[in-house]
Amino acid sequence: MTLYGIGLGPGAADLLTVRGKRVLEDVAVVYTPGRLSRRVAREYVAESKLGDLDFPMTRDPEELRRAWREAADAVAPTALDGDGAFVTLGDPCIYSTFGHLRRTLEREHSDVDVEVVPGVSSVTAFASVFGVDIEAGEELCLREAADGAAPTGPERMILFKVTDVPTTHEKLTAAGYDVTFGRRLFMDDEDPLITDDPDELGERDYYTLAYAVRSDADQTADDSPFSELA
Ligand SMILES: C[S@@+](CC[C@H](N)C(=O)[O-])C[C@H]1O[C@@H](n2cnc3c(N)ncnc32)[C@H](O)[C@@H]1O
Repeated sequence: MTLYGIGLGPGAADLLTVRGKRVLEDVAVVYTPGRLSRRVAREYVAESKLGDLDFPMTRDPEELRRAWREAADAVAPTALDGDGAFVTLGDPCIYSTFGHLRRTLEREHSDVDVEVVPGVSSVTAFASVFGVDIEAGEELCLREAADGAAPTGPERMILFKVTDVPTTHEKLTAAGYDVTFGRRLFMDDEDPLITDDPDELGERDYYTLAYAVRSDADQTADDSPFSELA
């Protein structure tokens, strides 16, 4: 039958979509890849319906491939028996474990149908919290900044996995960017931390993203976006 990839939103249980809630309630098993996604899913389904999948925190491609294969092997029989769901924080198609699982299922269990229920991504949640408008004519790129990485080039970037805030900040400011960090946005019971001061974020926290704008970026949006088409 079908495996649903459901986006739970950034963490607050009431930011799950109505469709996501309906599917969670309808399926036989709900797989949760981590503690936070499990906490949100538990708001909608009984503990007995939750299935565990183990995803190692590693960058070793071989170990990761093995974990996805094992996950696909565990999920496939459930999804063939009745419907199942795999939940992720944010949206399942944005920098998510679900993409790897879906590709592994397509390759090794092509009899399983996969359907995605989108969720509110941290990509859009950040804009609400930071009070940012991405306007017509502006460029916005998504990148990773794990372990102090600091990609440069685009006018505006959202950086995921900012696990070494001081180093990322130092490199980005040296490259001419203004940087704002957001930690644990729209997560239940936890105040989000929004700051441009890296000293406030010395402690590593995986749920940190950054918004970087090149200092020379044109801050005034083109208010005639169709002019080029005329
Ligand atoms: C593997 S990516 C998953 C992204 C997710 N699928 C989405 O659409 O938001 C994990 C990264 O997303 C960012 N992230 C996800 N949820 C967040 C939140 N509530 N607050 C801040 N950053 C978040 C962090 O940078 C984290 O390291």
